[in-house]
Amino acid sequence: MSTAAAEGPADDGTAARARGLTKAYGAGETAVLALDSVDVDIARGRFTAVMGPSGSGKSTLMHCLAGLDTVSAGQIWLGGTEITGLRERELTRLRRDRIGFMFQSFNLIPTLNAAENITLPMDIAGRKPDEKWLDQVIDTLGLRDRLKHRPAQLSGGQQQRVACARALASRPELIFADEPTGNLDSRAGLEVLGFLREAVDQLGQTVVMVTHDPGAAAHSDLVLFLADGRIVDRMEDPTADAVLERMKRFDVGRGSSGPEED
Ligand SMILES: Nc1ncnc2c1ncn2[C@@H]1O[C@H](COP(=O)(O)OP(=O)(O)OP(=O)(O)O)[C@@H](O)[C@H]1O
Ligand SMILES: [Mg+2]
Repeated sequence: MSTAAAEGPADDGTAARARGLTKAYGAGETAVLALDSVDVDIARGRFTAVMGPSGSGKSTLMHCLAGLDTVSAGQIWLGGTEITGLRERELTRLRRDRIGFMFQSFNLIPTLNAAENITLPMDIAGRKPDEKWLDQVIDTLGLRDRLKHRPAQLSGGQQQRVACARALASRPELIFADEPTGNLDSRAGLEVLGFLREAVDQLGQTVVMVTHDPGAAAHSDLVLFLADGRIVDRMEDPTADAVLERMKRFDVGRGSSGPEED
């Protein structure tokens, strides 16, 4: 792609990359450093989980990587394209074409029914959904008999599933999911996790998911642990027990990354 920055990485299997990613909110005494010079590589075709205490910067990291928020310093690439410095129009197009986002709040449009919410990003982009894929998404998420309902007529879990379907509908290369199972009962949660896992294994999509649940993180290939705006640890092939043990260490020095090497 001709827009790749001179220093940008070649297409080396990295779906998203950040270097020196820093995000501060506010200024002066009330300033909050949400991300503190984060370096991260998100491997293509893998399922990465992001964990860490509340306020550690997980959502901020996702929003920045997805080009939904500006950075204070540092650089971000999606594939070979540097997005820091892209103009809003180019960024919007890139987001629409390549990224699906499941937010912590569902961000559904109240006046549109479930079906319309699901296809809204594609409608805006003027793209036709792949009907077969769309059917599979809708059936897997159990939304077939709720398609004509507006968000206010749906349960919290159903709204989450609509948001999930919306993120998956256009088959984006890269899916960012911020606590996608947070409002679901365990069965629906497992279905969503299974769906994300399948998107990676069967379709080669890349998933980055924030979660507080060690059981959910165990569905991923790699867990990144955030504390105070920094990546402080990583765990390959996580199990729920190993993740739980690691999470406990955050509580030791509340707000810090826990004990140093032991
Ligand atoms: N718009 C904002 N204005 C000011 N501060 C913000 C803003 N958004 C986030 N912050 C601060 O940045 C830090 C990181 O917030 P972030 O939402 O990324 O945390 P999180 O890890 O996602 O937490 P949670 O698990 O509670 O969702 C927090 O201290 C938060 O208060
Ligand atoms: Mg958050």
